[in-house]
Amino acid sequence: WEPPCTSFSRKTAAPSRLRSGMASAAPRRPGTEVQMSQLVLPCHSNHRGELGAGQLLKWMDTAACLSAERHAGCPCVTASMDDIYFEHTISVGQVVNIKAKVNRAFNSSMEVGIQVSHEELCSGRRWSTCKAFATFVAQGQGDVKLKPLSPQTEEEKIEHSIAAERRRMRLAHKDTLKDLLARCPRDTGTAGSAVVPAAETRVESVELVLPPHANHQGNAFGGQIMAWMENVATIAASRLCRAHPTLSAIEMFHFRGPSHVGDRVLLKAIVNNAFKNSMEVGVCAEAYGQEPAPSRRHINSAFMTFVVLDEQGRPRALPRLQPEPQDGERRYREASARQKIRLDRKYIVSCRQSEVPLSVPWDQSNKVYLSYNNVSALKTLVAKANWVLAREQEKVRMYTLEEDQFLSFRMEITVRITAAQAFSLLSDPRRRHEWDGHYATAELVQQVDEDDAIYHVVSRTPSPENKPQDFVILASRRKPCDKGDPYVVAFRSVTLPTHPPTNTFTRSETLCSGFCIWPETEETSKVAYYNQATPAYLNYVTTNIAGLSSNFYATFVACEKFLLKNKDEDELILRLRDL
Ligand code: COA
Repeated sequence: WEPPCTSFSRKTAAPSRLRSGMASAAPRRPGTEVQMSQLVLPCHSNHRGELGAGQLLKWMDTAACLSAERHAGCPCVTASMDDIYFEHTISVGQVVNIKAKVNRAFNSSMEVGIQVSHEELCSGRRWSTCKAFATFVAQGQGDVKLKPLSPQTEEEKIEHSIAAERRRMRLAHKDTLKDLLARCPRDTGTAGSAVVPAAETRVESVELVLPPHANHQGNAFGGQIMAWMENVATIAASRLCRAHPTLSAIEMFHFRGPSHVGDRVLLKAIVNNAFKNSMEVGVCAEAYGQEPAPSRRHINSAFMTFVVLDEQGRPRALPRLQPEPQDGERRYREASARQKIRLDRKYIVSCRQSEVPLSVPWDQSNKVYLSYNNVSALKTLVAKANWVLAREQEKVRMYTLEEDQFLSFRMEITVRITAAQAFSLLSDPRRRHEWDGHYATAELVQQVDEDDAIYHVVSRTPSPENKPQDFVILASRRKPCDKGDPYVVAFRSVTLPTHPPTNTFTRSETLCSGFCIWPETEETSKVAYYNQATPAYLNYVTTNIAGLSSNFYATFVACEKFLLKNKDEDELILRLRDL
C-alpha cells in the first residue's frame, strides 16, 4: 500500500485544465486553495435524510489535507482540529462546497482554514455551514522546514497574521483546560427529575482500519477517525434522549498518534453531562495491532455537543444525567466547566471584533480567549488595506482608516533603535507617562502570565473642571513568531470586579489599540501606534487630521526621544536577561 503522495495530491486536487479553464471567469485562486463540491446522496445521510456529520468531517479533512500537501509537496497528517460549530443541517439532494487553504506555514506544521457552505440546486440558495481550522504536519525526510507563505490579499494577510495567535492558543489548550478544570466547583448538583444513569449511555465499538480508510501513507485518515468517533458519540447521545440527536459542536482536539491499515480502533463514548438543552459526549479512540493484542495506544479524545431539535428546529429540553460514581462524577463536573469555557471561547474568539462589547468581564476561564481577541483585533487592524496617509509632519506620519462606525488612526515614525529595544520600552504602560502627555499613572493590577497583564490607567485632566479618565486595560505583548512579523503590544479594556468605576474618575474604554514594531535595518525600526477610535478619541483625531493641532506630532516626537534616551539602559537589561 504505497501510492506516491505527490501524484495523489496532483490527481485529486482540481485538475489544472479545469483551473486554467476557470481562470478567465473566476477571480485569482491562491496557490494552496482546494475546492471540493459533493452532492449529498442517500448513502451519505442518516435515516432523516440529513448529511451525517462524520461524512462531512471526512470531506473537510480530505480537502484540507490536499491543500496542506500542495504547499508542503510531501505527505501530511492531521495534527489537530479547532472547535467546529455546525450552524445548519444539510439534506439529501443539496450540494456541499468546501474551500480549504493554507493560512500559514510554521516549521513542520501548517494551519489550514476550511470553509463549508451548502447550496440548494433548484433555488440556488446558499448557506454557510461551518468554518474550521486544522493543523497538518508535513512528514518529509528528516527535519522538515516548510517554505513560508506570502499572503497577497487583505484577507490572506489577516489570516496569516492571526494564525500565529491561534497556534499559541492551540498549543496551550491542554494546559488551559487542565488549569481551569482544577478550579471547577466540586458540587455535582444532579438534583432534578427524569434522571438517566450515565452507564446506560455507554457505547463501545471496534473498527478495523482497511485500505479505503487510509491515506497514501497507510495511516487512517483523520477524517475517518473523526467519523467513527462521531458515530459512537451519536449512539451514546441517542441513549440519553431516546430521540435523534444533532451534533452542534466539536471541541478542539489533537491526533496524538497514528493508526495504520490492519490496526483495530476501539471507540468508547459516554454522555458526560446533560444541560438544559444540550449534552456533552466524551469519546475516546485507542488503536492496537493484531491479536494477541500488544498494548493499546490512545490516539484521540474528543468532546462533542449534541442537541435534540423539535419540529420547528428549536432545541428540546433533555433528561438529566446521573453520573457514575468517582470517574463519572469527575467527568460530569468537568463537562460543566468545559461548557462555560466553550461558551466564552465561542463568544469571544469567533465574534467579529465589532460584535464584542467594549469591556468584557475578565475571569480566569476566559483569559486565554481575551488575550487572543486582544492581539488578533490589533493584527486585523494592522493588515487592513485601506489606510490613507492623512498628515505628515517631518518624520511623523498619521494614517486613517474609515470603516463601519469606526475611524481608526495610526501614527508612524522611524527610530534609531532595534525593534527588540523599542518593544521592551513600549510594552510597559507604567513608563508611558514619560512621553505621552495624556497618561498620568498606570498601576499593575494583575500579571496574568509572562506576556499578558492588566493595568489600571489614569489619564491627565485636560481642564480642572473635568474629572480625569481611568481605564482598566489588558496589555498583551507578543514577540515575532517568524521573520517578517512585527513585535506587537495590544491593549483592550476589560472589566474587573476589584476595579469598578468610581466617582473620582470618568471610566473610559478602549476597544483596540497598541504598537507594532518592525525592524527596518540592523539599527532602525518602524514604530507604529494604532487606535480604533471610539467617540472619546474622535475629536482628537479629527482635529489632528484637519491640521488644527500638532498634538500627535508632539507626542510622537516625545516617544522617539524617550526611546533614544532609554535604549542604552534597555540594551543592558536585554543583555543581562540573555546571560
Ligand atoms: N495542535 C497543533 N499543532 C501541534 C499540536 C497540536 N495539538 N501538537 C504538535 N503540533 C505541531 C507542533 O507545533 C510542531 O509544529 P512546528 O514544527 O511547525 O513547530 C509539529 O506539530 C511537530 O511537533 P512535535 O512536538 O514534534 O510533535 P509530535 O511529536 O507530538 O508529533 C504529530 C505531532 C501530529 C506528528 C503526531 O502527534 C502524530 O503523528 N499524530 C497522529 C497524526 C495522525 O495520524 N492523524 C490522522 C491521520 S492523517
